[in-house]
Amino acid sequence: MSAHPCGEVGSLRVAPSILSADFGRLGACVAEVDAESDWLHVDVMDGHFVPNVSLGPPVVASLRRYSERFFDCHLMMSEPARYLEAFARAGADGCTVHVEVGAPDEAIERARALGLRVGLAANPDTPFGAVEPYLERIDLLLLMTVFPGFGGQSFMGEVMDKVALARAAIDERGLALDLEVDGGIDPETAPIAVAAGANVLVAGSAIFARPDPLAAARALRAAAR
Ligand code: DX5
Ligand code: ZN
Repeated sequence: MSAHPCGEVGSLRVAPSILSADFGRLGACVAEVDAESDWLHVDVMDGHFVPNVSLGPPVVASLRRYSERFFDCHLMMSEPARYLEAFARAGADGCTVHVEVGAPDEAIERARALGLRVGLAANPDTPFGAVEPYLERIDLLLLMTVFPGFGGQSFMGEVMDKVALARAAIDERGLALDLEVDGGIDPETAPIAVAAGANVLVAGSAIFARPDPLAAARALRAAAR
């Protein structure tokens, strides 16, 4: 198990999502954007919670040899608690589970016991009230700006009201909580998400589908500042 620093809670972070990288040369893709990666976002899909499959713990373990960054694992899975230990052993630093899969208490406690940073995610149509009771017990709130399952979808601006609500609650309560957005984030939408209160920006296609991924990550960061 690893413990790579997540950085200062609440500070701006760019998290390239490897979902849009070339899976045949993932290590090289990750190394290529390293200088502009605060975290690495690893999308895990089980073909059940979302209609797509991606990768699992063996890929995380392999990638660990290519990157010292904080591995932010987004578990789009129906039964995340069953797999947390495998991800922790593989080298995940943080694991985020979806609130829609049911009472997330078990997953939160298990992730905590494994020494992982704990995230809770909500789909675009899940109200803030569904995650609000857990804010004191997690390290990261992920508010999806697309319906999960695929890269390259369009940013849903209507989620920004929820991001603003979450930011207000975090600040009012003085919580050490990162607020992450994921889906359709690019140099045009990143400033909108940051203005609403997000501080962790996940981007897949806006980085790895570009001819120069490192320059694209740099451009995203510059646009968000
Ligand atoms: C979608 C994933 C995202 C995805 C984002 O289900 O959770 O992390 O990689 O891709 P883009 O940035 O292309 O919308
Ligand atoms: Zn994701």
